[in-house]
Formats: sequence, structure tokens, C-alpha cells
Amino acid sequence: MSVLLTGIATLVSNDPEQGTGPLGLRHAAALVIDDDRVGWVGDAAGAPACDERVDVLGRTVLPGFVDSHSHLVFAGDRAAEFAARMAGRRYRAGGIADTVAATRAASDQTLRERARRLRAEMLRGGTTTVEVKSGYGLTVADEARSLRVAGEVGDEVTFLGAHVVPPEHAGDRTGYLALVTGPMLNACAPLAGWVDVFCERGAFDADEAEAVLVAGAARGLGLRVHANQLGPGPGVQLAVRLGAASADHCTHLTSADVDALAGSGTVATLLPGAEFATRSPYPDARRLLAAGCRVALATDCNPGTSYTTSMAFCVALAVREMGLTVDEAVYAATMGGAWALRRSDVGRLSPGARADVQVLDAPDHVHLAYRPGVDLVHAVWRSGRQVVGTGGTRDG
Ligand code: NIG
Ligand code: FE
Repeated sequence: MSVLLTGIATLVSNDPEQGTGPLGLRHAAALVIDDDRVGWVGDAAGAPACDERVDVLGRTVLPGFVDSHSHLVFAGDRAAEFAARMAGRRYRAGGIADTVAATRAASDQTLRERARRLRAEMLRGGTTTVEVKSGYGLTVADEARSLRVAGEVGDEVTFLGAHVVPPEHAGDRTGYLALVTGPMLNACAPLAGWVDVFCERGAFDADEAEAVLVAGAARGLGLRVHANQLGPGPGVQLAVRLGAASADHCTHLTSADVDALAGSGTVATLLPGAEFATRSPYPDARRLLAAGCRVALATDCNPGTSYTTSMAFCVALAVREMGLTVDEAVYAATMGGAWALRRSDVGRLSPGARADVQVLDAPDHVHLAYRPGVDLVHAVWRSGRQVVGTGGTRDG
């Protein structure tokens, strides 16, 4: 089954061979979806015949967003904590315990339905690949069931048993670490592809975080780190030293942190929704790009610090507050996310890539930041299947 998308005013392919610049920009373009893959990209005038034809009437086509950092499995919310913060209270990682209590008390059905709702919201917003973490269960059984739900809604699944030390282990950090790196990891490693740790004052220190990551790596899991979010710290350099795919947050960086990232295979994943919702200073993304670091943008969707599923919102924040150009922000939200997940099949629209396509009701991708807070997504295909908008042989 092949579908020709034609009438594309602006095509962002993220493939320099398909157009100009790193975004591989092309105008008056067409794209062919061949089953679950991109089959062809080129000028509308030279498009091949297909089973179906969809004229997008001067809209923009770009790869589905790749959201490489989210916490979709939880119950309850923390709106009151957010409101208090906006009234002047500071964020503390301790609020995580409230969500842990609500998550443990929730039924499997509730957790599943809530995660699915958030996943559907993401898809509606143009996100076609998402990483989902556990981290609000923090017992063997609750982490394992969180990962099962994560696996139902996410493309990539991450074990975050080392999110914080839960209240029942408050006087026994060593015991909790032994649990995470032993029985919990035994139960969870088969359900995940990645292990993550919150390396931060109030969560886990460098030695503890390293123990978690090393134990996860020994089980075949790839590494990710919540690093340097609330203050300067060892997380970024630990991530680089252990070859993590991504160091996430990167809000407080020293020059040594930036240098370490620049010379590494570790992507700096920026989560501007968290700075927004905790009223924190935004990291300087320009500084990272200038040093040669690879940068991704993700939502960090979670009930405490960033309760948004919108990658478009993150793009707008990154442009307005973090010093990225629109092109750089869009690239970081698509190709950057793919790098952070070490995926080569998503984040770009070149022949052979997964047919994850979003159509924006806008003449170009600049509108993602230029029209903040506006839902511009007209249609979405994921793995060649239309999941947003109406399909069929049609124009418009
Ligand atoms: O990425 N930093 C740690 N974890 C989440 C926050 C979780 C919460 O506050 O519930 C984050 O911001
Ligand atoms: Fe997070």
C-alpha cells in the first residue's frame, strides 16, 4: 500500500541529501509512504504514482517528534504543589513521594488508562516515538507493573527504580540500593531496554548512581541519567564516563561538563518544560551547540515538574528561552531525540526511515515556535498508518 503526500509547501526531512541545510528543507515537495516506510522524497512535479494520493494543500510536513524522556506511568497529580511553587515555594525532589503513594494505591487498570490517555495526547500533538520510564512504584512489584504499562504505551522503556529513596527506606539508603541493584533489577531488567538514575542532591549521589548504572549495564540495559537538574553536580560527567546515551536536564553545567559532553557519544537532553514549571533558569543551549555537543529536546512529562505532553511547547520554549534557532529546536525535537534513544529509523524522513510523519497547518515549521500554544497538527502517520486526521484518497 503506497500513499503520495503532495502539495507540501515545506518539507523538513532532516536529511541533507533531500534538501538544503541540516534539516534537508525542500519546498513544493512530495513524499511517498510505502507500507510502514518512507519510500520516496522529492519535487512534487516528479512524484511517482501511488495507490492513494493526499494533497496537503500547502501545509508543512516534518518527522513525528521523538520524545526521548517521559514519566507517563503515575496516578494523582500535583497541581497544588505547582500552584504553591508559582506562589513562591521552591521545587524539592521530595514531592515525588506523593506521586509514589498515589501510584502504589492505583489499580492496574487506572494506571494503564491514564498512561494511554497521555500517550494519545502525545500522538495528537505529533509525537510518534516516546520513551517511558518507571520510577513512581519503587517496590519490586510496583516498578515491574509500571514497566509493563510503560511497555504497552512506549516505544522505549526505562527502569527508574533509583528515582528517590522511598519513605519506607528513609533510614536505610544502603538497603534500598541493594534492593534496586538486586531483586528489583532482576524483576525489571527483562521489561526494559534502559536504566536511568536521578543523580542529584536529595536523590542519589555519584557513587550510588554509578552502582545503579553499572548493575543495569551488567543486565544489558543502556544507560540514561537525570543529571545536573537542580544544581551543579557529578551526573553529567558520570553519564559521559559510563557511555550513557543521554544526560538529561543539564540545567546547571560547568565548562568541564560541557567539554565532557562535547567529546562524547552522550547526548545532552534538554527539558524546558521542567524549567518552566519549576520557575528555574533555563540552560544555555547555544553554549552546548557552540561546543559541539549533540542536543535533544524532550517533554519530561511527569506530574511534578513538567506536566505537558507537547513537544511543540518545548520547541517554543527552547527557541524563546534557551537560545536555539527554530531550525535547531525542531531538529533537536526530532533527530536529537532519535540520537538520544540511539535510533536511526526515526527522526528523519529519508527513504527507508519509518513512516512517522506529521502535517502542520502552517506554511513552514517556524510556526511551531511562532504560534506557541496553538495546536497546528493537521494529520499524523505512524509506521505508515494514519493515526490523526482522516485518511483515504482525497484532497485537503
Ligand atoms: O525529571 N528529576 C527527577 N524526576 C522528574 C521529576 C519527578 C517529580 O517531581 O515527580 C524530572 O523532573
Ligand atoms: Fe525526568
